[in-house]
Amino acid sequence: MSPSPIKHLAIIMDGNGRWAKERGEKRTKGHEAGAESIRDITTYCAAHESIETATFYAFSTENWKRPKLEVEFLMKLLDRYLKKELETYQKHNIRFQAIGDVSAFSKALQKRIRKTEEETQGNTNLTQILALNYGGRAEITSAVNSLIQAGKSEVSEEDISRALQTPYTDIDILIRTSGEERLSNFLLWQLSYAEFYFTKTLWPDFTAKELDTILNTFTQRNRRFGGL
Ligand code: IPE
Ligand code: IPE
Ligand code: MG
Repeated sequence: MSPSPIKHLAIIMDGNGRWAKERGEKRTKGHEAGAESIRDITTYCAAHESIETATFYAFSTENWKRPKLEVEFLMKLLDRYLKKELETYQKHNIRFQAIGDVSAFSKALQKRIRKTEEETQGNTNLTQILALNYGGRAEITSAVNSLIQAGKSEVSEEDISRALQTPYTDIDILIRTSGEERLSNFLLWQLSYAEFYFTKTLWPDFTAKELDTILNTFTQRNRRFGGL
């Protein structure tokens, strides 16, 4: 069975800190370099003929455990990124959406996120989703709670899928950079039948060329979805 075209790609962007360490730089330099990769990969996805959605793991519910200074830097970097990239979103007709509990962020950052979502909501080439203060378990738990609050005493898979924050589509392929082979609480529900691809490349070194090669190997895979 030849695979259907890739519509939804998800990426766990990992290895920024190690990239910086290899160069004798501070971890923050790695995050800055990683932000450049997000732009390149996003514009590649926008130009790709079948990809409709690209979801990037940018900050997990567990990343608050990092040193305060690193967390603060990541928040500032996100604000700077969204401000600067608005031009890229408009130029390449990309819609931006956030998933995760952004209410934990500063008011100014929340405003930036909402503003970017609003200003790009009519764009149709690609939806770029950034997972921000996101956890797969938290997302499923809050979906179930919202169904209980709506008066449901029993829920179906369809109900949960629709109550999730991630605009619901199954993910075709998940890529994780930096050689780690784990999910780290990313999109647990949506990844049920995704193909997984792990590369040793550190996120700041990940290029559109490597993504292109990965997507080509994906088309050789036989996705059976439980059938024959
Ligand atoms: C990924 O890179 C970026 C975030 C999680 C924010 P890391 O910061 O996890 O880099 P390593 O894993 O320490 O190299
Ligand atoms: C996962 O990377 C989270 C993001 C990429 C935002 P981590 O570096 O935080 O994951 P662990 O700690 O190695 O599992
Ligand atoms: Mg990491």
